[in-house]
Amino acid sequence: MAKDLPYVCSACGAAHPKWSGQCDACGAWNTLVEQTALSAGPGSKKLVARGTKLALTDLSAQAEEAPRRPAGVAELDRVLGGGLVPASAILLGGDPGIGKSTLLLQAAARFARGGLRTVYVSGEESAAQIQLRARRLGLEESPVQLAAATSLRDILTTLDEDPPGLVIIDSIQTIWHDGLEAAPGSVSQLRAVAQELVSFAKRRGSALVLVGHVTKEGALAGPRVIEHLVDTVLYFEGERGHAFRLLRAVKNRFGPADEIGVFEMTGKGLAEVKNPSALFLSERGAEVPGSAVFAGIEGTRTLLCEIQALVAPAPPGQSRRSVLGWDAGRLSMLLAVLEARAGISFAGHDVYLNVAGGLRITEPAADLAVAAALLSAREGKALPGRCVFFGEISLSGGLRPVPQTENRLKEAEKLGFTAAALPRLRGRGAGSRSTLQLTELDEIAGFVAETFGETAGDSRDSSPREDGRRQES
Ligand code: TYD
Ligand code: MG
Repeated sequence: MAKDLPYVCSACGAAHPKWSGQCDACGAWNTLVEQTALSAGPGSKKLVARGTKLALTDLSAQAEEAPRRPAGVAELDRVLGGGLVPASAILLGGDPGIGKSTLLLQAAARFARGGLRTVYVSGEESAAQIQLRARRLGLEESPVQLAAATSLRDILTTLDEDPPGLVIIDSIQTIWHDGLEAAPGSVSQLRAVAQELVSFAKRRGSALVLVGHVTKEGALAGPRVIEHLVDTVLYFEGERGHAFRLLRAVKNRFGPADEIGVFEMTGKGLAEVKNPSALFLSERGAEVPGSAVFAGIEGTRTLLCEIQALVAPAPPGQSRRSVLGWDAGRLSMLLAVLEARAGISFAGHDVYLNVAGGLRITEPAADLAVAAALLSAREGKALPGRCVFFGEISLSGGLRPVPQTENRLKEAEKLGFTAAALPRLRGRGAGSRSTLQLTELDEIAGFVAETFGETAGDSRDSSPREDGRRQES
């Protein structure tokens, strides 16, 4: 811990030399807190020549590939990179109420039934509450060992006696280290508790899962401040109103990052979703202006989803840009490109963009689908309903190829789509194997002319077409 940086942001973990109301790293308000040092260590000069000399080795001295322990839940195992790795630490972050405890209880039951000794420590709920949940989930017969505790000392004493194969700590924010004066949930507690638990896992060979609530208020420190201490960081995401839940790996020392698992919250816990594209498109209605289907890639799987746009006249000087599930900066960039390169202006209009189903997309390949949705909303003309869109758009208005064209086309075909608009294919490989009708594009202006005709953009400084035309269905 840097001695001269005593304040740390509880949201993003950035260190600051002095207190201020806003964190300049992440922009959050009232999240800076003072951290207390565990103990003042000796200066580095005194350390020289006092330790044991290290045995340095070379890169070729390979360790065995870490053995894996799959849960038998495909959506979870894929995100873990094949299963649990002994002596490793996983952080599972997510909003309160999103389903972290449910997911872990179900996973714990699976591992325990598979013969892995599993201990579930809850600092949030009583044993009785967890037993009730287990009964609701039909898991009461699983040999999971349960404890309700918040004292790190008690937890470590229990675990150290007979280290289990898997330890789940739910949540890290409720556990306290009695060597620190700071309150449970503060940055210094969180770090110290995580450090102790991770070092226990490494030393005794247990797999460790830490639950961390993501907090927007900053009253509790967020899981980001301990991300660097663990091997794997997973986030459990979803919208409260929707049943879909995405388990996303953002860091994984033992597997691919960016991998996702898709679940659905049901009355009987979380169910795996084997075909997420069908699920994400299931709520799609008839062809309406402003709707485009994006053929995306999340980790190693293709995921089709609907992009929705709404463009409405705004009072002078008050136009709004609002976006859910996509990057707001990227939206501004696309709007500028559409105006400069295709002559379609969104000035004087509110623009709303939404990725249906509560999904969050980070791929630049979504550019073309977003542009198509925006143009369709602006022109009041629906896009062909059985067509998917993908491709990155550059500042010059050109379309850039994106990875995994063939997989995207295959998934679209599988779901009954008949056409695709995409960047011009370089080789013939991917396209020739597809039965879809392909529209290969060089630039966005060509797409506008082809899809919306030569009159597109005539509405430039007026309002979008009549409401009656915009809701044809
Ligand atoms: P929970 O796992 O307690 O969330 P977290 O640990 O992330 O705070 O999930 C709580 C929500 O899940 C709660 O709103 C009820 C809902 N739920 C179901 O819909 N079905 C179920 O079978 C269970 C156990 C919970
Ligand atoms: Mg919980």
